[in-house]
Amino acid sequence: MLKLDYETYNGGHKMHFQWYPGHMTKAKRMMQENIKLIDLVIELVDARIPLSSRNPDIDDLSQNKARIVLLNKSDLANEKVNDEWKKYFEDKGFFVVKVNSKNGLGIKNVNGIIQDACKEKIERDRKRGILNRPVRAMVVGIPNVGKSTFINTFAGKAATKTGNKPGVTKGKQWIKLNKNVELLDTPGILWPKFEDQIVGLRLALIGSIKDEILNVEELAIELIKFLSSNYKGLLEERYKIEDVEDPVVALHNIAQIRQCKLRGNELDLMKASNLLIEDFRSGKLGRITLELPGES
Ligand code: G4P
Repeated sequence: MLKLDYETYNGGHKMHFQWYPGHMTKAKRMMQENIKLIDLVIELVDARIPLSSRNPDIDDLSQNKARIVLLNKSDLANEKVNDEWKKYFEDKGFFVVKVNSKNGLGIKNVNGIIQDACKEKIERDRKRGILNRPVRAMVVGIPNVGKSTFINTFAGKAATKTGNKPGVTKGKQWIKLNKNVELLDTPGILWPKFEDQIVGLRLALIGSIKDEILNVEELAIELIKFLSSNYKGLLEERYKIEDVEDPVVALHNIAQIRQCKLRGNELDLMKASNLLIEDFRSGKLGRITLELPGES
């Protein structure tokens, strides 16, 4: 049975997402309906795993719409690789902005990019004599990628919510950002392509998939393997351990040095695994990108 749990937070309350085929069909249907109302899709991806945090259906769903990809949480990802991903998506025809929705870095560039991305539509309107019709946009992305945070930061205090308008927008709430842009206030939630094992692993490492689904020690071992071959010296430096050649030994060493112990002085590998993963997720290990353009 296809099923996956997600944990996300909404106004401080934990929410559990469970994707079943039925949920996916419903989410897709909602997206198809909302997409009819908009000119522009603003798709958030997680800059640490820009492909694994995408939904494979988004391109089909967004046909004939202007597209922007936001590399969100770029503060947690490697800056050089952020630039490589920016180019990767630009080469595919997307407009791209690196952002940190949490502290607002990069957000001020989004407005200008929206105008660029919608140039054709604005020009088409102008030729038909339609002046100053705002661009309508929708934010989409997988759970936890930062959609609500982005909307709040981007909309800021200046935004005013426009009520239910008669006609096409009936029942929808739009956030009027300025005279040029209106944003649908409910983001589109997409499911990731978690059937693929490596994608699932990456989603779990950034915390999109609930830890209980995957063995936390296995996750930590995979992270150690990745870091020791892609970010050489980092684990040694951070945990003052000597050799990370063997990831299992490295995990034992982290447990030892951080005094992760069970009763009877046995090493608590689960505690050490959680500590390592949390250090990664929070950025304490530094800015790390798990996925490189061109590797898949
Ligand atoms: P969603 O609507 O797509 O489900 O995601 P949401 O905005 O709820 O964001 C999920 C988590 O990601 C939140 O953390 C949020 O603060 C964090 N976040 C969003 N954008 C960024 C970003 O650009 N950089 C960083 N570093 N974090 C970001 P949380 O742990 O649930 O809450 P909090 O502890 O941050 O308050």
